Amino acid sequence: MCGIVGYIGHRDAHSIIIKGLQRLEYRGYDSAGIALFDGKDINVTKTKGKVSDLQDKINSENNTVGNIGIGHTRWATHGVPNDINSHPHYSNSGDLVIIHNGIIENYASIKKELSNRGYTFQSDTDTEVLVNLIEDVQKNGNYKLGKAVQIALNQVVGAYAIAVFDVKKPNEIVAARLGSPLAVGVGDGEFFIASDASPFIEYTNNAIYLKDEEMAVIRIHKDTKIRKVKDDKLVDPYVQTLKLNIEQIEKGGYEHFMLKEIFEQPSAIKDTYRGRLNVNKGIIKMAGVEDNLEKFLNAQKITIVACGTSWHAGLVAEYVFEDLARIPVEVEYASEFRYRNPVISNKDVVIAISQSGETADTLAAIKLAKEKGAFVFGICNVVGSSISRETDAGAYTHAGPEIGVASTKAFTTQITLLSLIALRLAKAKGSISNSDFKRYLIELEMIPEKVEEVLKSDALSKHIADIYKDVSNFLYLGRGFNFPVALEGALKLKEISYIHAEGYPAAEMKHGPIALIDENMPIVVIATKYGHYEKIVSNIQEIKSRKGKIIGIVTKGDTEVKAIADHVIEIPETSELLSPLLTTIPLQLLSYHIAVLLHKNVDQPRNLAKSVTVE
Ligand code: AGP
Ligand code: GLU
Repeated sequence: MCGIVGYIGHRDAHSIIIKGLQRLEYRGYDSAGIALFDGKDINVTKTKGKVSDLQDKINSENNTVGNIGIGHTRWATHGVPNDINSHPHYSNSGDLVIIHNGIIENYASIKKELSNRGYTFQSDTDTEVLVNLIEDVQKNGNYKLGKAVQIALNQVVGAYAIAVFDVKKPNEIVAARLGSPLAVGVGDGEFFIASDASPFIEYTNNAIYLKDEEMAVIRIHKDTKIRKVKDDKLVDPYVQTLKLNIEQIEKGGYEHFMLKEIFEQPSAIKDTYRGRLNVNKGIIKMAGVEDNLEKFLNAQKITIVACGTSWHAGLVAEYVFEDLARIPVEVEYASEFRYRNPVISNKDVVIAISQSGETADTLAAIKLAKEKGAFVFGICNVVGSSISRETDAGAYTHAGPEIGVASTKAFTTQITLLSLIALRLAKAKGSISNSDFKRYLIELEMIPEKVEEVLKSDALSKHIADIYKDVSNFLYLGRGFNFPVALEGALKLKEISYIHAEGYPAAEMKHGPIALIDENMPIVVIATKYGHYEKIVSNIQEIKSRKGKIIGIVTKGDTEVKAIADHVIEIPETSELLSPLLTTIPLQLLSYHIAVLLHKNVDQPRNLAKSVTVE
């Protein structure tokens, strides 16, 4: 996901690229590297760690000469963060170097084919496979770099933003994108390439934002050519004059990282199921699950350990796993699990969920579970994180770096991944019919576009936020799959607006909390069409009779709740089991707007850290 910078022109490429990579550090990364052409050779320096570590290594290797080069900050997806897996990657001949953001889904089959043709690989990355595919195409067809890249990209499946350089043709850089962002900065006799404009905005505000499946052949002293990857056809370049400042660029034009990450959820969910969900073939494939299928299927129970928002995702998973796969699931706060004497044995599977992969309580819970003989499966968003290394197997959410302290896209991608696992287990057990399995696959694949639709309610959420921003308490109610979403909605509000909020199972109201209801209490009620709808409507009526203010999250076209609630936010229809992926979006937006209207520090709320690495 992370950072690409390239330069070709009359200035010192090294300083421009290093400064550009520093501009991209906000995106989160685990490694950094640079390739510079010194007039004769391409010199690559790369390292696990920070851009400052890269700079130290460059100085020690004295690799600073050249006015053409490419640089990269890596957010690992294939191959743990280490020096060898860092980018840039050479092709076998050493003539080509590449940097890449994204995922090449079919890299394994391409790697096998290239290995059969004698190619060797130094790293575990999908990226190194791509640069050797380009080399193989170039050699077999005697093509120029641009044509070789175009042909090779038509053989890959996945997401990419790449920059490629060929020592045989040192006056050009070829760039291309599909699914990951890439911009070309057009200067006076110089060109820049970057993931966003922040690395080059101080040199030029003229930019060409490549569209998906477009490639750019950038040549010094010549106009940049933009072509279609599909058919190599020329495209008229659309040069924009940017009016953004650095900070606005880093946040993608959004006011806060949290809002940017809320709006990234359609692509983040797509990246989570990319390469794992194949609706046409009617299959779900995840290596970590396939290799351990029997352990899951024979488990006496599955215990989920996590903290905070990740614990809420685990609670959704309990409902999903038990409903689909009929395997007993318990969800535990990692901080409680680690200190009690849980009944765990080698007949148990433990699933640890953590965005950061560094949460101390979750790490400790994993160690305890392993001591007791359980098989531990990790769900993390950070490749190579402590938890991903401590667990016996696992899967990454591929949500990309989550910078805002309040977790948003991590939550929906965790639920996406857990739903894929539950469906895979249900299919293996035969606990759901083939037609239901297929129906869920189709539904899951449609979720990103439905999230896009819910995001259109942003203005309505802001309007409601303005009405209730000064209250002292909120209640969030949900039933079934959406009870955990009520808890998550309450946490979101608490942690960024500092307004007290509680989530409850809707039916629990009459066991005490209803005493809280009066005209000053707004209650968010998740009242979707398939979630025990009639019962929820009765709960709403109980609240209305006590003058509570109702904010209903309803299925599009709802009339009954709309008639009695004070406000409703509609979500598209989907299966109840997948509805948390949609119902959580308005709650994220509501809490975000209330916090902004209260002038809170949305991205870094008081007292909170993005990763709680201490007890
Ligand atoms: C959620 O918005 C908070 N940032 C917090 O509850 C977080 O979910 C919790 O600390 C767990 O973090 P993890 O997923 O990185 O383990
Ligand atoms: N998939 C590539 C890798 O794991 C690129 C990751 C990224 O986007 O930085 O190296």
